[in-house]
Amino acid sequence: MSRDLPALPPARLRALAARHGTPLYAYDAAAVRRAHAAVLRCFAPFRASYSFKANPNPHLAAVLRRQGAAADAASAGELCAALAAGFAPADITLGGPAKGDDELAFALAAGVGHFVVESAAELDRLERACRRLGRRAACSVRLNTYAAGHGGLRERMTGPPTKFGFDRAALAALAASRPRRHCRLCGVHVYNASGILDAALVARDLAAAMAEARRAAGLLGMGISRLTFGPGLGVAYLPGQRDPDLALLARRVKTVLDRELQHEAFRGAELQLELGRYLVAAAGVFLTRVLDVKTCRGKRFVVTDGGINHFLRPALMGHNHPTAVVGRAGGRLAAADVCGPLCTPIDTIARNVMLPRVTAGDLVAVGRAGAYGFTMGLQSFISHRMPAEVLVDGREERVIRRRTGFGDGLANVPPVR
Ligand SMILES: Cc1ncc(COP(=O)(O)O)c(C=O)c1O
Repeated sequence: MSRDLPALPPARLRALAARHGTPLYAYDAAAVRRAHAAVLRCFAPFRASYSFKANPNPHLAAVLRRQGAAADAASAGELCAALAAGFAPADITLGGPAKGDDELAFALAAGVGHFVVESAAELDRLERACRRLGRRAACSVRLNTYAAGHGGLRERMTGPPTKFGFDRAALAALAASRPRRHCRLCGVHVYNASGILDAALVARDLAAAMAEARRAAGLLGMGISRLTFGPGLGVAYLPGQRDPDLALLARRVKTVLDRELQHEAFRGAELQLELGRYLVAAAGVFLTRVLDVKTCRGKRFVVTDGGINHFLRPALMGHNHPTAVVGRAGGRLAAADVCGPLCTPIDTIARNVMLPRVTAGDLVAVGRAGAYGFTMGLQSFISHRMPAEVLVDGREERVIRRRTGFGDGLANVPPVR
């Protein structure tokens, strides 16, 4: 895959914007299916578990469910989205670093199949919830036991001290503690980092995760009925970056699995690949309409109706996504900042990006917006309408989230007396 905008041609993007208004998120179902198939080819016999945090729209997630994926929810809200997408409760895992007692009880009552536990205290709270509700829970222990080489990545969960999972001391303390009667420890979960482009590093991570899983299972005196590995596969956002080399990844993963799956510890274990970004990022485009083009002290500003309230990620992560003027590929390029409608200079969705001539009424498309897009916006800041989301599948297209109206943000605000 290249960094280019998704396969939807300019005429289709224009028609979508005209029909559904801007700003707008559009997703290409075929691209999601392709990404899922490509990942499974690299990681066979793993099953993908789709991380709703990347994009919680149930219709998009249902594309993956139909391809055989399971679901990874990190809150009761994401659990509701997974149920709405049609995932069987047994195929849903509840993870996340801070689960409330209400969320644990809700998940148990919903029949969630598996829990990832992040600390002994959380395990005890889950145990108490099980006792209260007369339920049992299958649990994986999340490991934070080694420092992999994720040096340059911003989205690191292990390596430096973090709030995630069990480090070696916490694991040893868990092993020494009394067993819980309602929570069965039967799995190991490793998620190190997000946005990894280096295929060799992902394979090294897998090898380390499997070795650590064997060690942890030995220490805890448990069999591994499930191993969950989060590969953190990234996608290229910037010029000069490349998507992970999947051919290399497949070769390296095979070498690791040929060796690791010989171990008795993994006999009969269910293997899950927990990921979001790679499955949906490239399938999504964020479309905004240009309202004004201005020059201020020699610098060009393209002012659009889409801002960081709708699409925060570039400002939050400090880098652009691929950005283009729809239907205008050629011509002389010059730098511009693409800005939104908010009353703050941080409302910039692409900074110093090279764009051709652009005028009011044009559409600007921001690519690779399918993951951590809509879901990461500053939705209520300055009370603009929230965009619709549209799922395109070949010739079909479906609104999978309606655009909000002007006053919809007041829905949960009681009347002023
Ligand atoms: C525990 C866990 N699982 C899965 C994911 C999804 O990662 P990605 O979207 O990079 O595949 C994340 C992302 O932060 C995570 O923290």
